[in-house]
Amino acid sequence: MDKLVAGNWKMNGGLASNRLLLDAFTPVSGVDMLVCVPYPYLSQAQKRTPSIALGAQDVSEFPAGAYTGEVSAAMLRDFDCTFVIVGHSERRALFHEDNATVARKAAAALAAGVTPIVCVGETLAERDAGRVMDVIGAQLSAVLEVLGVAAMARIVLAYEPVWAIGAGRSASAEQVAGVHGAIRAWLATRGVDAGTLRILYGGSVKPQNAAELFAIQHVDGALVGGASLVADDFMAICRAAAHR
Ligand code: 13P
Repeated sequence: MDKLVAGNWKMNGGLASNRLLLDAFTPVSGVDMLVCVPYPYLSQAQKRTPSIALGAQDVSEFPAGAYTGEVSAAMLRDFDCTFVIVGHSERRALFHEDNATVARKAAAALAAGVTPIVCVGETLAERDAGRVMDVIGAQLSAVLEVLGVAAMARIVLAYEPVWAIGAGRSASAEQVAGVHGAIRAWLATRGVDAGTLRILYGGSVKPQNAAELFAIQHVDGALVGGASLVADDFMAICRAAAHR
């Protein structure tokens, strides 16, 4: 299975700078590439990146109706989005999304044919307290409860330790290996046929550490923030993931 390298632009960009960035992205064989752009730029990215998959950074849990400001999964499909990030730690912390809400968003995405990239991960305080898999287990349980075992196998997971996001320093190879292995085991214990379920790592992925991270067992790709805004860096990370 090829690795998936996803860029999460977060709330960055503009028409002019996006054009330069998108034009510099070229497909790399042996890796699946994805850009998750802010909603207003979906149309721009759709037209300019036909060979790279397109995604969004959030989605409504509701299918349609009187929900001012929300964007439905069906709307994302209209712009050829095949993926959507749900439950990013910034949404959990800043916009008060709880585990149940994240789970309903994942279900809404799947129902519309959009693959949710469900983010999980612990804070530094939770790690220091030895609660990493308690926290991640609760995040995963909520999703499993709503989706069921069969649909759970159709999502993408992203392990993003909150303390490594935008920190300049990723989690260590040992820490990443430990959590990715524990997530795989967690899924297997609950009967999820996770053979093709990809677990991405996110948190300060850069060209300098990408090869080391992609060499870790159960790391099936990356969710890249800051470095996805620099064309050369994103391309270098994609090349590091190719044919691994
Ligand atoms: P950075 O790569 O900037 O640390 O961000 C990671 C992230 O949050 C991706 O979703």
